Amino acid sequence: MKVAIIGSNGQLGTDLSEIFSAKHDVVGLTHADIEISDIDNVKKVFGEMKPDVVLCTAAAHNVPKCESEPDVAFKINGIGSLNLAKVSTDLGFKLVQYSTDYVFDGRKMKPYVETDAVFPQSVYAVTKYCGEQFIQNYCTKFFVVRVSGIYGKIPCRAKGGNFISTMVKLSKEKPEVRVVKDEILTPTPTREIAKNTLSLVESEAYDVYHMTCEGEVSWYEFARTIFDTLKLQTPLYEASVKDFPLVVKRPFYSVLENANLKKIGLNQMPHWKEALITFLKENYGATV
Ligand SMILES: NC(=O)c1ccc[n+]([C@@H]2O[C@H](COP(=O)([O-])OP(=O)(O)OC[C@H]3O[C@@H](n4cnc5c(N)ncnc54)[C@H](OP(=O)(O)O)[C@@H]3O)[C@@H](O)[C@H]2O)c1
Repeated sequence: MKVAIIGSNGQLGTDLSEIFSAKHDVVGLTHADIEISDIDNVKKVFGEMKPDVVLCTAAAHNVPKCESEPDVAFKINGIGSLNLAKVSTDLGFKLVQYSTDYVFDGRKMKPYVETDAVFPQSVYAVTKYCGEQFIQNYCTKFFVVRVSGIYGKIPCRAKGGNFISTMVKLSKEKPEVRVVKDEILTPTPTREIAKNTLSLVESEAYDVYHMTCEGEVSWYEFARTIFDTLKLQTPLYEASVKDFPLVVKRPFYSVLENANLKKIGLNQMPHWKEALITFLKENYGATV
């Protein structure tokens, strides 16, 4: 299959490029190669390339910036998805769009399945959900894949890092580190998402999917595991979300159940702790 990866130099795009290259003919597209909010550009790029599959990791996802620039967020997350959906339908390629656990408000306090009602709370979350809706309504061969708390060996370009790189940095720079105990999710490495996406796109089970590691954890417990595994000596303390100003509303419980992947027998996601330790061994030389 000819597979185009939008955002191929990003955090998720880098792992998608590596995993898909082992099996398929991959064309990586950076922001210099395509502008998803420009329909003419999207038509031109894919009209010439004729891919079988397009994986889109592009998003406006610096969450505070989306609040101050809602028009830009809508243009990329909403209109960008609509453009890809329309061109997918015209040219017949399969389309994978990544979305977010932030489509939920967190009040369920039990893992969310794909059929649960959404209640996005911020400009970022609303525009990502809008993108999901455009894709489901304008595209036939789609996979909308919701992920959560992602981390990879390449820092997120929009945010300049990820939770693990931030913890390592803070442990070096600060006398102590405080992390919230009352925000629960399932952080997931981009490499695992890339591997499970590969199996998914080889199917024709077009749908919305949750794709996160198994289990759930607070950011504090996740940080504790990072500190212990990397033997970081800086004191790490529990904090509450109430200790920090809430810049943008977000769900404090956003665990996703991979119900649709399980239904089609394609859930390959490991437990968050196993995945984290593997990541720390491969990228930070952890010796556990
Ligand atoms: N980070 C998280 O914890 C998290 C959680 C849930 C969901 N997600 C979703 O996961 C996806 C991937 O995140 P990531 O961390 O891999 O992102 P990333 O590192 O910021 O990579 C995004 C890539 O898309 C490119 N891009 C941005 N706007 C574009 C546009 N208008 N047209 C074409 N390309 C564009 C970026 O290029 P430039 O940088 O050069 O602009 C970059 O190469 C996003 O959809 C995000 O919403 C992330």
